[in-house]
Order: sequence, then structure tokens, then C-alpha cells
Amino acid sequence: MTTTREQDRVLIFDTTLRDGEQSPGATMTHEEKLEIASLLDEMGVDIIEAGFPIASPGDFEAVRAIAAASRNAVICGLSRANFADIDRCWEAVRHARQPRIHTFIGTSPLHREITKLDPEGMIARIHETVTHARNLCDNVQWSPMDATRTEHDFLCRVVETAIKAGARTINIPDTVGYTAPRESAALIAMLRERVPGADTIIFATHCHNDLGMATANALAAVEAGARQIECTINGLGERAGNTALEEVVMALKVRNDIMPYRTNIDTTRIMKISRLVAAVSGFPVQFNKAVVGKNAFLHESGIHQDGVLKNAATFEIMRPEDIGLTATNIAMGKHSGRAALRAKLRDLGYDLADNQLNDVFVRFKALADRKKEVYDDDLVALVADNATTTEHDFIQVRRLRVVCGTEGPQEADLTLAIDGVERHIDATGDGPIDAAFNAIKMLFPHKARLQLYQVHAVTEGTDAQATVSVRMEEEGKIVTGQSADTDTVVASVKAYVNALNKLIVRRQKTAPAAMS
Ligand code: KIV
Ligand code: ZN
Repeated sequence: MTTTREQDRVLIFDTTLRDGEQSPGATMTHEEKLEIASLLDEMGVDIIEAGFPIASPGDFEAVRAIAAASRNAVICGLSRANFADIDRCWEAVRHARQPRIHTFIGTSPLHREITKLDPEGMIARIHETVTHARNLCDNVQWSPMDATRTEHDFLCRVVETAIKAGARTINIPDTVGYTAPRESAALIAMLRERVPGADTIIFATHCHNDLGMATANALAAVEAGARQIECTINGLGERAGNTALEEVVMALKVRNDIMPYRTNIDTTRIMKISRLVAAVSGFPVQFNKAVVGKNAFLHESGIHQDGVLKNAATFEIMRPEDIGLTATNIAMGKHSGRAALRAKLRDLGYDLADNQLNDVFVRFKALADRKKEVYDDDLVALVADNATTTEHDFIQVRRLRVVCGTEGPQEADLTLAIDGVERHIDATGDGPIDAAFNAIKMLFPHKARLQLYQVHAVTEGTDAQATVSVRMEEEGKIVTGQSADTDTVVASVKAYVNALNKLIVRRQKTAPAAMS
């Protein structure tokens, strides 16, 4: 039976939009961040860390817009331990129904060396910055970065200082993913026992996954008394990532018998947000990833299939529908109508407006004509692809023909509409993708650098759709373009153009005069 005691409630703090977005290449657009924040709020995340407002005007605007649109969740912004950061953070979060300022400083010997603060200097800095934050906002969170490599005596002193200055949440980051479960638990227990005022605040755990122990470390911290878990969707984050939200939430749900804590998360929303984050970040979920991996509920061996058919519990510890996966993966075909498509998409977690449904329906019919069976994953790719293009895009793909053969070079014959004017060119390259990308560059010269090109088959079979991610960089700005099609070259060209359109939107935002 699930516990209802308030002391057993674990707050979920999602930092996909801050720590997650910090992973190289995972940059998201303003609209994508708003969409993710809205889903996080809807699924019951308690605190959303929406960004690092002083990092860039784009970050500031995103945090401000998320704060203004927030419904239930606390909206938090990150700031270093200085007044300018904290003021900027407050400006961004202040319009949230429930704002929070999160401020941090590196406390381990290595970090003290970098900030050139001796222990007394650091204590003074913590006192003045947390006090300043508290004068602006009631709800202040403080973090000693690299806490797991900070001397215990000093850690107790800095935590006590932050509590005295008014922090209501003390987050204990394992910044470099160095700790292990027993140590993670012991650290929280030690702080709860030794720090005066520890019983008046909430301890949070923030783990990185460098040694693959982030989920275990976070859960161990909860068992020792932490009541806020910091995590990201799909475990996105710097280097090996952060604790994955879906893992800790499902672990607490499935093993509630031995970990009697509860969260507010509607777990049936997990798949939808996992897919969205994978699509917009360009970081696909590994097939065997716990909970949300494509194979997490797939049974290949005969013995397992036989067992699951007789009683799913033989080899399944959670039900697919608990995370928002439909129980059946019934293929849709070209005879399926609009109502069936709507119902199927609802099952998959997509409640589309009528005009969106019409667009997806047209594309679904076209796909069903080319592909024998249209599976759930095909539909998810269609919906995602539909969201990547609009009739207002600066560059639009009109026609593409490629000529391939054993004798190179390959040729691409491409027509794009650029700002409403159709332009056409023939280009060659080392393979059809290279030829097609060369054609784009000739039609729309640009300095953006291709950082990543990635192709994934959505389903099995030679008629499978391919989803393509293209990551591009221009003057430090990184964007990821996405597209899906049964033709890999078409998907690649559309993904490249999608990335260029995102860069154009970014240029317009930062320098309106730059685009004529
Ligand atoms: O990993 C870390 O230490 C952080 C802090 C800024 C909380 O992300
Ligand atoms: Zn972190």
C-alpha cells in the first residue's frame, strides 16, 4: 500500500532544461523549452529548474516565459554566488506562481582553489549571497557544488551558514558522479545529524552518472532522509548525465514495499515526455535504457514470450501502460480512418488539435501507401516530424532527386523555396547525402558547421522510416534539426533544412537587422 504520510513524500525537481541542456549539443529552442516545461508541469513535477538566466539572453527569456506560463510547479532559476546572477535570476522567475532562486558555489578544495576564496571568505560569500536571495524571494535553494568531495567539517559549516541565511532547501550535489550508494546515504545522514537547523529544511540529492550509479545514489540519499531528488528526463545531462527521472520515479513506485516513499508524478506521461526530449535534444534513448528504452518491454526469447503471454508478471515488473505505452502495438494501415488515428494518437499520449490531426492524417495516408504496416513508433515519428515544419519556414524543401551508383560521384537535384522564391541546383558529392547537403549549401550559403549527423531506423524492415538528427553550430549557437521519412536522403535533407531554419530564427532574435 502506498504511503500517505507527508514525511514520506519525495519532491521531484527536474533540471532537464538547465543541467540537461548543458550537455554539449543538447541546446533547445525557446518553443521546445516551453513545451517541455508544460509537460513537466502537467505530469506533476514539483520543481522545474528552467535555466540559468544570466547565461544568455535566450536562457533568460526562456526562464521568464516558463515562469509566466507555469501552473502548479515551482519555477526555479540557477545563479552563481554573486548579486548580479541572483538579481538576474529573480527577474526571470519572479512572475511564476511559485518562484525559487537556486544559488551555488563550489566548496571542495579543488573549487576553493579556483574561486581563490579561503574557508572564511567562502563562508562570508555564502552568507551574503543567500541573504541577498532571501531578501528577494521566500523560496531559496542553496548548493555546495562538488559536495561529495568536500571535507565533512567544512561541508557542515557551509550548510549551516546557508540555513542560517535563510535557504529552505539544501541540495547536496555529486557533481562528478564520484560517490556510491552507501556513501551517498551516509553523507545525508551525517549532515542531518551534525548541522544545527537541519530539521527545518529539505535536503535534496543531485547525482551525476559518471560511474552509472546516479539512480542508486539518489535513492540511497532518500532512504537516509533526503526529500527532493534532482533529475532529468532520459538522464540527459553533462558528460554521462544526471539521475533519470523515469528511473527514480518508477523505482519508488514498483518497489514501494521496500522504499515506502511517494512522488506526485503521473507516470503515464513518462513515454511522451521521454520521446519529446529525445527528439528536441537530438540525444536518442539507448535501446536497452531502463524504463523508456525501446527494448524495455520487448520479449525476444521463446521462454519469455511464452511466459508473458500466459501471465505478463512472469517477466514484467511494471506494466507498459504505467509509463504511457499502449498495451497493444496494433499496426494501422491505409484503410484506417481519421477517428482510428485520433484514438491511436490519444493512446500514445498525443491530443492533437483538429488542424494538426488533419496534417498528420494526410501524412499518415501517404506513409501507409508506401509502407505495409504503420506501427506506433512510426506515428510518433510522424507527429514529431509534423511539428518540425511549418508553412512559415524561411527555407522549404520542394523537390529532391538523387542519382546513386557504384561509380561516383553521386548527384543530387534539389529545389528549395527560400523566403518564398523557388531555387534549383544540381550538385555532386561523395555519396547521396553529401551531394544533397552540398546542394543545400550552394542554394543557401552559410557558415554553420555540421557537428553531428545521425540516422535511426524507427521500426524493422527495409521499408522502415528513418529519423535523422542534424546538429549544427554557428558562432557558438547550436541547434538540432530532425526529420523522418521512409527515404533516408529525404529525411536527411529535411533535417538539415530544419536545423538551418532554427538557426535563422535564432539570428533574427539576436540581431533583427541581420536578416534582410
Ligand atoms: O552538478 C552540480 O553540481 C550542479 C550544481 C550547479 C547544482 O549542477
Ligand atoms: Zn549537475
